[in-house]
Amino acid sequence: MTTVTIQPSGKTVEAKEGASLLEVILAAGVDLMHKCGGNAQCGSCHIFVQAGKKGLSKTAAPEHAKLDTIVGVGSKSRLACQAKILGTEDITVEILSFASGL
Ligand code: FES
Repeated sequence: MTTVTIQPSGKTVEAKEGASLLEVILAAGVDLMHKCGGNAQCGSCHIFVQAGKKGLSKTAAPEHAKLDTIVGVGSKSRLACQAKILGTEDITVEILSFASGL
């Protein structure tokens, strides 16, 4: 089991290997937009991974392509629907206070 800490609330939850960050965040009761239903199409699930980046699946082509179109993207950016828990490291994510992918 991997522990995922969700900022800014500081809520910490356990996550199973193979789950997406979006699934983990929603299961924790934290609101995160996901307009396209997790298909790397909308960018509304854009988050920052503050720690434990290596504990997530690598960014694949559709996620790269979408991130390229979003304002405010940085080296910590991921689409929560595309980043899967590998189970190797605990993770800290930051939910953005603005909707950057719209
Ligand atoms: S939910 Fe649309 S890109 Fe993640």
